[in-house]
Amino acid sequence: MCGIVGYIGKRDAVEVVLDSLKRLEYRGYDSAGIAVIADGKLKVIKTKGKIRDLENALKGFDVKANVAIGHTRWATHGKPTDVNAHPHVCGGIAVVHNGIIENYVELKNELVSKGYSFESQTDTEVIACLIRDCYKGSLFDAVQEASRRLVGSFAIAAICENEPDTIVGYKKESPLVLGVGDGEYILASDIPAILPYTNRIIPLEDGDCVFITSEGFDVFNNGEKAKRDILTVSWSPVLAEKTGYKHFMQKEIFEQPRAIADTIQGIYSFEENRFYLVSSGFEEKLKEINRIVAVACGTSYHACLVAKYWLEKYAEIPVEVDIASEFRYRDAVIDEKTLAVFVSQSGETADTLAALKLSKEKGALTLAVCNVMGSSIAREAHEVIYTHAGPEIGVASTKAFTTQMAVLYSLSLYMGSIRGNLEEKDVASRFAEFIKIPRLTEEALELDEELLSLAMKYLDKKDFLYLGRYVSYPIALEGALKLKEISYIHAEGYPAGEMKHGPIALIDKEMPVVVVAPVDRVYEKVKGNIEEVKARDGIVIAFTTSGNKELEGKCDHVFYLPEVGEELSPFVYVIPLQLFAYHVAERKGLDVDQPRNLAKAVTVE
Ligand code: AGP
Repeated sequence: MCGIVGYIGKRDAVEVVLDSLKRLEYRGYDSAGIAVIADGKLKVIKTKGKIRDLENALKGFDVKANVAIGHTRWATHGKPTDVNAHPHVCGGIAVVHNGIIENYVELKNELVSKGYSFESQTDTEVIACLIRDCYKGSLFDAVQEASRRLVGSFAIAAICENEPDTIVGYKKESPLVLGVGDGEYILASDIPAILPYTNRIIPLEDGDCVFITSEGFDVFNNGEKAKRDILTVSWSPVLAEKTGYKHFMQKEIFEQPRAIADTIQGIYSFEENRFYLVSSGFEEKLKEINRIVAVACGTSYHACLVAKYWLEKYAEIPVEVDIASEFRYRDAVIDEKTLAVFVSQSGETADTLAALKLSKEKGALTLAVCNVMGSSIAREAHEVIYTHAGPEIGVASTKAFTTQMAVLYSLSLYMGSIRGNLEEKDVASRFAEFIKIPRLTEEALELDEELLSLAMKYLDKKDFLYLGRYVSYPIALEGALKLKEISYIHAEGYPAGEMKHGPIALIDKEMPVVVVAPVDRVYEKVKGNIEEVKARDGIVIAFTTSGNKELEGKCDHVFYLPEVGEELSPFVYVIPLQLFAYHVAERKGLDVDQPRNLAKAVTVE
């Protein structure tokens, strides 16, 4: 997923844009570039590779400018090359773009017939030429007119040699945020790029065209001036820094106790025995629903799988969980008595956003659970509950996952309460257990050294199997996803009860099998699965409740986790699986924060 940045103000624009692009590196990219207007001339430097390659290309490029746009490219159309890198230029107009233009071939042919020539294979160069073709002295008007011709998802920033004190941005589906500083403005794909300069942000909306000069800005939508609230985000630049950890992912794993505590703080008042989760109007509608669908992708989908157990237990409502890319193409039975919950850390995942829009069209009551304030999914849903994990920079999601579960567990108790299934004393006692989770996750983090040793032992293995039952089954899936996405080792999560239906054929002395085995309602069955694996010479790595010595003689490795209520075990048992995956990838010398082929948010289908 590409990253775009635009700066206008009193600072050195090249310095600001390069610094901001570095804060978007986590999105994954393969080339970078920058365009400035200096001494009335448009200058563009761009290169395949990383931002450090761009900085090398900029050496000796001694230019002072107060207006610049920059880009980190995640190749969609055309291979990563210098030519395909952004910004793209046409007739003194430079453009950077995040998204996909679906009708770019048709537009390119039209522009070629008008005499335009192209040097790249990108859809973005077509945008630049289209804006040029629409230009009649106003960059703002040209961008608006060109945008009306574009089909697809795009967030763009453009500058023009004839208008050296202007940046124009346009947002449609791909994210674009405006940072409002003191006499300076930053346009960017995501908040961390803006934080060092201001925490006052405007999440632009679909159809917004923003006109920015050093004097100020205006937002228009479909030709009409639009009023957009300025949000103040609580994130500090420090939160978006590694602060002594080797990787963002490592920092974010260790931030989880604090992130969970911040997320549940203020959700429930013991004194009043009431929840502060959703608006009163939304609460009234919640009382009418008779089924729940929970829709997400990747790790967020795993959070929904865990929540299914909680919602069915406390809300006593049928719960269906689906992957967004499947949900949006099947004939899901949705109506006005359905609560559709959409979980997304970034709030920008294309499939989840599309599933949300589809559910609204079918009349569902929609609720978003997001980590990024003002993100597209947060704004599209009827109601949003934010996790307070702070910026999650590592592509592999960790603190977002546990804080999503924290919100969803709270939602389950809340719905049990408003539907009369839980009495006040039940809610209070369960919440009293729940607020111990930050401390219990802190204790789980103490296994870090032991998991480093485990990682050193097994990092050369080619395949892993992760097993769990009940609420530990989604944790097995999550543990497998963590390992595969950052260490590139094949890992599969499976319901332990399914072993006899296939996976047991895989077991041999080379196969490490990670078993999530808290002492809970299904523990005896899981113990049986462990014995099945050992009987076939599999390597068993078990995570169980402290004090339970039964597995000592049955497994190759046993790790002990603090005692926790059975339904709350996912918060505690996911921690060692995150740490194990981290150490395997780190010991293998891989790019833990920006794993190959992955992006932090998949904003295109
Ligand atoms: C998880 O570690 C991955 N980064 C990925 O599966 C992610 O959870 C998924 O793309 C959903 O992202 P979202 O929560 O921002 O919608």
